[in-house]
Amino acid sequence: MRKINIALLGCGVVGSGTYNILKDKRKEFKTIYGIDIAVTKILVKNIAKDRKGIDKNLLTTDFNSILNDQSIQIVVEVMGSIDLAREYTLKAINAKKNVVSANKDLIALSFAEILAAAKNNNVVFAYEASVAGAIPIIGVINRSLVGKTFNKVLGILNGTTNYILTKMTRDGLTYKEALQEATELGYAEIDPTSDVMGLDSARKIAILSSIAFKREVTFNDVHVEGITKITAEDIDFAKLFGYTIKLLAIGEETEGKIIARVHPTLVSNTHPLANVNDSYNSIYLNAESGDTMLYGKGAGDLPTGSAVVGDIVDACRLLEAPIDSKNYSTCYRDVELGELNDINSKMFLKINTKHEVGTLAKITSKFEKNNINIESITQTLLSEDDVVLCILTEKCSKLSIEKALESIEKFDVVKSVISTMMVL
Ligand code: NDP
Ligand code: HSE
Repeated sequence: MRKINIALLGCGVVGSGTYNILKDKRKEFKTIYGIDIAVTKILVKNIAKDRKGIDKNLLTTDFNSILNDQSIQIVVEVMGSIDLAREYTLKAINAKKNVVSANKDLIALSFAEILAAAKNNNVVFAYEASVAGAIPIIGVINRSLVGKTFNKVLGILNGTTNYILTKMTRDGLTYKEALQEATELGYAEIDPTSDVMGLDSARKIAILSSIAFKREVTFNDVHVEGITKITAEDIDFAKLFGYTIKLLAIGEETEGKIIARVHPTLVSNTHPLANVNDSYNSIYLNAESGDTMLYGKGAGDLPTGSAVVGDIVDACRLLEAPIDSKNYSTCYRDVELGELNDINSKMFLKINTKHEVGTLAKITSKFEKNNINIESITQTLLSEDDVVLCILTEKCSKLSIEKALESIEKFDVVKSVISTMMVL
């Protein structure tokens, strides 16, 4: 029987989940694959910490003891951070060790660099757990659907923000109450700013865009807007038009350019993503040969641990694979990155105006000037001289909307443009 020794870098939520699954499945993996996968070292920061169910003899605070251990073939990076994680990942790869990682923060910045190092050293670099936990989206794009050409990859990639928006929409909770619940339930990052500002989703869509379009897209290339400005009123107006507000992460290749973005979006209630609720994640893949949708838990010890374990087993099976066959993706294409203004989308606009004769005519004249077709419009009188206009446009360029709004904001009957949101 082939014995494969592995080391875990980190034994927190994901590390302990991975350890427990490997322990529970050890016998089964021997039977199915003829491989005995053994965790022989675990790197932690605080060795004195109480860790239920973990063999204390495996713990170390010395990374070099793992790096220099020739019997360890696979290193599993589940400790987080960027600089130290990059150093350990590259050192392990350069020492000819295969690496499995859940570290979205690092991969969203250094994907091409790490893949190149893995290729040079003829080792596996696998990262299924870095996006959407238990949803096997990386494997689906890199392996199962390798025959497809993707136009657009879009999804709900952050459980915390989906939970908050669901609770605000369905149960009438305030943003603050819903965020508190999401934090108590353990969905949020240690610093939830990363969730609510859209940064966590941006890291994930950077990774998905890189593999779907085979061109590196980093976190810094993603246009990001979070959910902090969404109000109960926005949600109610969206409902009125038959839409649900979701924080969507979207990567698309359009007119020869790749654009990745994260922003609150009005999703038509007839679209399956509108019905992805609570802390669930979902990814919708649009390809020339048809669409595919995946749904599941995006975080947690066992959901994420199961994705890590899938990669470990895959890496074990690839150890003997021929050179250049160990990694599924490369960023080989030379495609330009586009700007947000290049996007064509339906738009939803909320404008606060005075209640005066000719207001609508003035505003709509600027839509006409910029060739924007209005699909529907409602006017709500809030008080004697206070009106909220909600305008839903047909598909138009983001640039034309920006130009129209620039002129509209100058009218003295316009008090403010409250919000603009793209529509799916
Ligand atoms: P935790 O904070 O729960 O665990 C981190 C672990 O790494 C701890 O065991 C910690 O040691 C160890 N560690 C941290 N820094 C060092 C260091 N400098 N030297 C040695 N050990 C160190 O994190 P998670 O398990 O939640 O996340 C791990 C990774 O997985 C992150 O990259 C995260 O983004 C990613 N991820 C997490 C998901 C989740 O649901 N939690 C979902 C998808 C991805 P000690 O125990 O001693 O403190
Ligand atoms: N904070 C993240 C979320 C955890 O809410 O989805 C998984 O990356």
